[in-house]
Amino acid sequence: MEDTPANTPNSLKAAAIETSLRPLTLQHYIGQVEIKRNLQVFIQAARNRGQALDHVLLCGPPGLGKTTLANLLAHEMGVGLRSTSGPVMERQGDLAAILTNLEPGEILFIDEIHRMNRTVEEVLYSAMEDYKLDILIGQGPMARTVKLDLPAFTLVGATTRAGLLSSPLRERFGIPCHLQFYTAEEIQQIIMRSSELLNLNVEPEGSMELARRSRGTPRVANRLLRRIRDFAEQGAHATITLEVVVDSLERLGVDRYGLESLHRQLLRVIVEKFEGGPVGLSTLAAALSETKDTIEEVFEPYLIQDGFLQRTPQGRVATSKALDHLGCDPGPGAQLDMLNE
Ligand code: ADE
Repeated sequence: MEDTPANTPNSLKAAAIETSLRPLTLQHYIGQVEIKRNLQVFIQAARNRGQALDHVLLCGPPGLGKTTLANLLAHEMGVGLRSTSGPVMERQGDLAAILTNLEPGEILFIDEIHRMNRTVEEVLYSAMEDYKLDILIGQGPMARTVKLDLPAFTLVGATTRAGLLSSPLRERFGIPCHLQFYTAEEIQQIIMRSSELLNLNVEPEGSMELARRSRGTPRVANRLLRRIRDFAEQGAHATITLEVVVDSLERLGVDRYGLESLHRQLLRVIVEKFEGGPVGLSTLAAALSETKDTIEEVFEPYLIQDGFLQRTPQGRVATSKALDHLGCDPGPGAQLDMLNE
């Protein structure tokens, strides 16, 4: 018998729910209030005109919902979504193949768009501006330019590093959106929604504590919720209380500010090896055996936002809040941090 939603085995239903904690409609999307309000208008206007939505650029640190928004835009516009990422397209032809296969109105989602090679990127300019593909075929005297019409489509680009995008590309996005870290209250709502989808009983004090330790990031909140569920199930706790949350997070090494071991290690290196800073990014990356990109894109945004770290022209400086949290004496970096305030 063919599987239909009605006779899908429970185990498969559970797996589908697990992977789909992401909202599919703007109505169910929590937070990013201004972006949501504006997108609602632009979607409705494009739908009323029967046109493709203008190109959307989603910028912000990892885990804040860029991919979720891309999927949601396709769902709200009632169109298909094709996904790719900047670094996988090595040649102009790779992108041209995708563009020429789009259906009218479809969304092309390019993740990590700042990592796209410049020659490939150039194909996007005329494609975005007037749905034309200008591509050079062959080499030397036999080379010729081919012009192709493309269907009207929407490019949704996502980037953790808006500053690395070239101006010609950035300027072609009619709808730029800068995602912000979520408030603890918004994260708590997301946790409550996810708990309902996962059939978990979480007490309000528990969900608030988890929210406070999720670094304003839905992906972190949902990941930690799944681990807390494991601890609760294995400890035979039917209800996820504040105590279950605190105990689980301690075991996961997530401290009261939501920092995990790598965040603390980064701050500790600045404090203990470089007297609180300033220290250059390359030096820091070498000391932590991490890439500069990972430090800048993954670890720093929240440490800066929550006041543990400052970027100064001389380099990174641990703040007095970081020193307090690590239980260290202030070094020269902390003095610089006070002077900057
Ligand atoms: N799950 C992940 N991100 C979400 C969001 N912004 N709103 C609702 N549920 C989510």
